[in-house]
Amino acid sequence: MSVPVFAHLQRHVRKWALAFTAVAALIAGVLAGTSPASQAAGSLPCDIYQSGGTPCVAAHSTTRALYGSYNGSLYQVRRASDNATQNIGVLSAGGYANAAAQDSFCSGTTCVITVIYDQSGRGNNLTQAPGGGAAGGPDNLANATAAPTMVGGHKAYGVFVAPGTGYRNDHTNGIATGDNPEGMYAIFDGTHYNGGCCFDYGNAETNNNDDGNGTMEAIYFGNIKVWGYGSGNGPWIMADLENGLFSGVNQHLNSGDPTINYRYTTAIIKGEPNHWAIRGGNAQSGGLSTFYNGVRPNVSGYNPMKKQGAIILGIGGDNSKGAQGTFYEGVMTSGYPSDATENAVQSNINSVGYGNGSSGGTGFPSVGSKTSLRATTSCCTGDYIKHDDADSNVVIAAVNSSSSSTDKGDSTWIVRSGLANSACVSFESANSSGKYLRHYNYKLQLAASDGSTTFQQDATFCPQSGQNGQGFSLQSVNFPDKYLRHYNYNVYIASNGGSNAWDSATSWADDVSWVPASPWAP
Ligand code: AHR
Repeated sequence: MSVPVFAHLQRHVRKWALAFTAVAALIAGVLAGTSPASQAAGSLPCDIYQSGGTPCVAAHSTTRALYGSYNGSLYQVRRASDNATQNIGVLSAGGYANAAAQDSFCSGTTCVITVIYDQSGRGNNLTQAPGGGAAGGPDNLANATAAPTMVGGHKAYGVFVAPGTGYRNDHTNGIATGDNPEGMYAIFDGTHYNGGCCFDYGNAETNNNDDGNGTMEAIYFGNIKVWGYGSGNGPWIMADLENGLFSGVNQHLNSGDPTINYRYTTAIIKGEPNHWAIRGGNAQSGGLSTFYNGVRPNVSGYNPMKKQGAIILGIGGDNSKGAQGTFYEGVMTSGYPSDATENAVQSNINSVGYGNGSSGGTGFPSVGSKTSLRATTSCCTGDYIKHDDADSNVVIAAVNSSSSSTDKGDSTWIVRSGLANSACVSFESANSSGKYLRHYNYKLQLAASDGSTTFQQDATFCPQSGQNGQGFSLQSVNFPDKYLRHYNYNVYIASNGGSNAWDSATSWADDVSWVPASPWAP
């Protein structure tokens, strides 16, 4: 059915007027000195979409409210010790997650995220995904402490999706069906992805099966090349439209879709009759770029779309669950949002300061400097990470001003740009030139680089704010659920509550928090 030209124009004029109002409101807030950290009511993502005439019909976040007036629960955690659950809310209306409530509830045990509440009032909560056509279920639930972050100067946790993890809602309210228009954005950790199918957030089948081309429309993030892909080696933002991840109009390569891997990446997909777009940007600063804006793919079955209106997170439409990634927040809208509305949402995202105070480069000793890494567990606050002289073991041991010069050198590290990722760091021994801290079979050792990709990854760690509030926690770049941790005076990469002895939940936050101290051997 064709839309009368006047009605069409009216719709666009209204959209622009509303988007202008949203942007003007944002600018007014800044001019009025509104503190971004206080998340002024009326200026959060779903308020902006509402003003743009494309309201949120689902709003999920474990880090913050997405409406200025939202004062409810963000998510629910369940602890392993007694299976009790607790809702985690916001610190104030329109504010940030109360991560301290999670920390105290989960202290000494492990927790998983059981529910991610929908803030839109439509009850579109995400819970443990059931089995589907591609894989049985129920899927795993995310470890609640595996994706610590900072937002608005506050500690918070994202949703860490390891392969096998998935959330879904097959009985939704207000989510687009058929060829109806919708938009969605999500903030992901752009360094956590893989080539499995499919780390998605968005619209999918209500029966957990592959129901054919065009039966889903979700944001995909990762570097799988089975279907579509963009330029470079990935990861890419693509649209999962079922039986195909699309980077543009073509089935396979669309070079306009770039590799994008900001630590905090904003990813957008939106679709309306025979029209859709991919947009993305750095959630920490700057605007959005449009990577595709045009007609539906030149492959049959995607025009018109046959969306079914379920919501998935971390999995494909048929419950394919080989992918990994980290989700911080995301929404789905009714109606096709204007670019101006999304740009205003991105301004809000920029303003909250994802990652400030938590990642490499923001407080961690700079590349080229020397440091000694002090343990923070009460047993061991005089102990530092050091290598043995007789073997290649890496341990924690007491070092002080009376220690031998050998011990001082053994506990001093030169901070190097991460061998596998320059956004992270590697540690070269100060007295064994060319040898680095690396993990091998999950245990830390000192070794010379053999130049392999495996070595480079095993020797690269990404600093985050210390999980006990002190110093830094050092996340393994190739095992992102694992952190540098001391256990029985040895040093490992460990995951909270995992299957190895050194994964013990006891003293977890303290054992993975390290203070970079003045180097013992300057
Ligand atoms: O479209 C890519 C994937 O193909 C979908 O997520 C899944 O349902 C199917 O296996």
